[in-house]
Amino acid sequence: ALEISKLRRDTGLVTLDEGFVNTASTRSAITYLNGEEGILRYRGYPIEKLAEQCDFIETAFLLIYGELPTRDQAEKFRSGIREHTMIHEDMKRFYDGFPTHSHPMAILSCVVGSMSAFYQDSIDPNDPYQVEISIYRMMAKLPTIAAYSYKKSLGQPFMYPNNSLNYCENFLHLMFATPTREYLVDPDFAEALNLLLIVHADHEQNCSTSTVRMVGSSNANVFASISSGINALWGPLHGGANEACVRMLERIANDGGNVRKYVDMAKDKNSDFRLMGFGHRVYKNRDPRATIIKASCDKLLGKLNLDDPLFEVAQQLEEVALKDEYFIEKKLYPNVDFYSGVIYRALGIPVQMFTVLFALGRLPGWLAHWKEMHDNPATRINRPRQIYTGSPERPFVAMNRR
Ligand code: ACO
Repeated sequence: ALEISKLRRDTGLVTLDEGFVNTASTRSAITYLNGEEGILRYRGYPIEKLAEQCDFIETAFLLIYGELPTRDQAEKFRSGIREHTMIHEDMKRFYDGFPTHSHPMAILSCVVGSMSAFYQDSIDPNDPYQVEISIYRMMAKLPTIAAYSYKKSLGQPFMYPNNSLNYCENFLHLMFATPTREYLVDPDFAEALNLLLIVHADHEQNCSTSTVRMVGSSNANVFASISSGINALWGPLHGGANEACVRMLERIANDGGNVRKYVDMAKDKNSDFRLMGFGHRVYKNRDPRATIIKASCDKLLGKLNLDDPLFEVAQQLEEVALKDEYFIEKKLYPNVDFYSGVIYRALGIPVQMFTVLFALGRLPGWLAHWKEMHDNPATRINRPRQIYTGSPERPFVAMNRR
């Protein structure tokens, strides 16, 4: 409900829209999303076409710079990214200070935040050259920083990036190779990862992207803004949903696989249990990203033929919930995170890394929005108003009378 309150004459009308359900925070030319019809386009191109024809780096270029790259532009972008894949050796010492079982998202946001300290020659938001370098640095170093957070949890040595591999292959190498064992990247794994990164690359004014714009609107640098976006992404109602989804599937599998019991529990208003990976704030018909990666998920599971009860539970849950009146009436369909969690599991990515993978995918969107916001001369610092609901003025009570 939209509540309108008349504040003092000098501030005019203030609208209250809890959760920004009907309030646009900005104009943007990056992503078009129609939740009723299940349409998603980056810079005018349907997500289905990009997923079919592009790789993640071309998609990132499109989002950030507004046009699909020519062959030369794509090559320049790729080689620029390759140039920056290593992180400063001193940054690695950060990892020593984290407790072994730290959540990788906690590490990711801290280490990305520290980039403002390590790369001081690219933190001036008003210098286009520095901004450009910071975009390359972010794209190049995030996979390295992300994979090191996983290596830290295993106590394994960090691998140097392998620049003869493509973006997704290199990430899998950083995650799974060791100094004593080469990791031969399965092309189907790299392809599935590439697809997942593309479908996650932008989603207009979601919580983390709005956070990046909000922080950036104060003229904070790219690294500081992206680090804030990573923290916003972590919550289970946003990027943390894929992890929460697989943990829920594990719980159901360990509880005998009784899917119906959990569907009923999600419908019970006295329980705070929700089916993770179902429902979406904007898509009230179908999530087009879910359709794309469901196909990839089915293909991968078919190829791998893994003996994992969790995949069976996922399939049953999808079937039961899609036929259930409650889910039909409330238009709660599996969202992208339902299938992405299952694919990550099939790829052997540990569950605590799922949201980190989401961050890798969303990075170009964050960068594109930071840049769009910053390049727009009409941008003002984001500063929402509030409707005050506290006490009216009251007399101060001295300590000895409280
Ligand atoms: N399971 C059971 N009931 C649900 C679910 C669910 N997953 N999602 C929504 N509902 C119900 C709510 O209880 C509510 O019922 P009511 O009308 O009787 O009160 C109704 O559907 C509407 O739900 P809201 O929470 O008001 O919808 P909102 O748009 O605020 O929330 C959200 C969307 C957060 C995604 C929600 O559907 C949810 O919690 N889903 C599970 C978490 C999840 O999968 N998040 C990932 C989102 S995708 C992404 O971030 C990439």
